[in-house]
Amino acid sequence: MDKPWAVILAAGAGTRMNSSLPKVLHPLCGKPLLWHVLACGADLVERQVIVTGFAAEQVEEFFGEQYTYVRQERQLGTGHALQTALPHLPEEGDVLVLCGDTPLLEGATLTSLLVHHRESKAAATILTAILEDPKGYGRIIRGPDGRPAAIVEELDCSETQRAVGEINTGSYCFDLSAIKKLLPDLPVNAQKGEYYLTDLIPLLINAGLRVEAYRTGEPGFALGINDHVQLAEAGAVMRRRINEELMYAGVAMIDPAAVYIDAGVKVGRDTVIYPQTILEGETVVGERCRLGPSAHFVDTFIEDDVFCRQSVVLESRLSSGSTVGPFAYLRPGSHIGPGVKIGDFVEVKNSTIGSGAKIPHLSYVGDASVGAGVNMGAGSIVVNYDGNKKYRTTIEDGAFIGCNANLVAPLTVGAGAFVGAGSTVTKDIPAHAMAIARSKQENKDGLAKRFLKKK
Ligand code: UD1
Ligand code: CA
Repeated sequence: MDKPWAVILAAGAGTRMNSSLPKVLHPLCGKPLLWHVLACGADLVERQVIVTGFAAEQVEEFFGEQYTYVRQERQLGTGHALQTALPHLPEEGDVLVLCGDTPLLEGATLTSLLVHHRESKAAATILTAILEDPKGYGRIIRGPDGRPAAIVEELDCSETQRAVGEINTGSYCFDLSAIKKLLPDLPVNAQKGEYYLTDLIPLLINAGLRVEAYRTGEPGFALGINDHVQLAEAGAVMRRRINEELMYAGVAMIDPAAVYIDAGVKVGRDTVIYPQTILEGETVVGERCRLGPSAHFVDTFIEDDVFCRQSVVLESRLSSGSTVGPFAYLRPGSHIGPGVKIGDFVEVKNSTIGSGAKIPHLSYVGDASVGAGVNMGAGSIVVNYDGNKKYRTTIEDGAFIGCNANLVAPLTVGAGAFVGAGSTVTKDIPAHAMAIARSKQENKDGLAKRFLKKK
């Protein structure tokens, strides 16, 4: 059978989010709500049509050209949104209609919905769920034959209808020829003056067509995000899902409830993640690493056997066997070579650190190329900025930088060169030379005694 099409309703402002960002762009585990909905239907459908409206340009720009966009210029309700998409859909076959604000949906649930729809030869199949607290959702009102007769929104519910625990998840499968015929006839809802997609159900039934409900066994996955409280609830569910998948794949977590990993992040087996560790964006982690406690990674590529604790690492690369922290700050463009040690209170920015180099304590390295085996003493600083421009520094293989040295860029420290502690170096140093750039020491006999007595 042909694959179904999908329409995702994403034109609403999301008033209840109380935000300037359109609702479907609010992030959940690092990806917009709509991203999750699109991902869950991706393998199943022929083409995804997105109905945009509020901040349409922003939404369309984010998701790009692989989708068809239909503008709903005025947001006159979910029924009107689907009406707007109708001319862009084929004349027959099936269409899945999803809401852009139900990010916990899973592909397997949609597959079951589609199978049920096709097996029962229905014109419409509603994905329903039983909720302990159905507040805010449309209730499924079943007829004497046990099949759905109507969906009644909370505002329009009678007392008895409000007590119904079976709700409309907002996902449906429709027969295209049926909705092409009947969707234009939707009445306007008296309470809100909107066209409700849910009001299509009685129209189909009156036309003698079959309407089915497919009840999911995973009611939690139906959560529709209308406000920040629901967004946070969904975040907890999504995080648990991400963490469990990684743990089954061989990743250890000391306390998974305190590990925050974005959707799409990859982690290799036998890596151990300690509490309060955050892996965001396009981060990839290799095998046998030890990350955390309290480490924050954004868009970072981490090879195997890396140890990193109590640190922040942004848009950087940590090569095999390197160790970072505690309390290091690696800013964008830091390429930390294999076996490198970056210690406490070290900041690195836009720099390459060669294999086996050591920067163990209290250093700043910015816009520099540091060679293999270089040792940078405590407090040594790369002076990359003169208040006007930034310059590069090259420290060649095997150089030794003494404690508290300032290397004033632009500068090259030759291979195997030695910089005396406390030097402020402004001129290039040839390979294997020693540079001392500090005032000579003078000792004055007995002066200390006199000086101390005074005080
Ligand atoms: C809707 C359903 C309700 C269901 C719930 C599930 C209707 C009338 N009600 O209610 O039965 O229980 O979802 O979460 O359908 N949208 C548009 N254009 C519009 C209006 C909305 O594209 O003119 C989009 C929104 O961006 C959103 C989705 O449709 O992604 C659902 O809209 P929302 O206002 O959140 O509907 P609910 O009140 O949650
Ligand atoms: Ca909703």
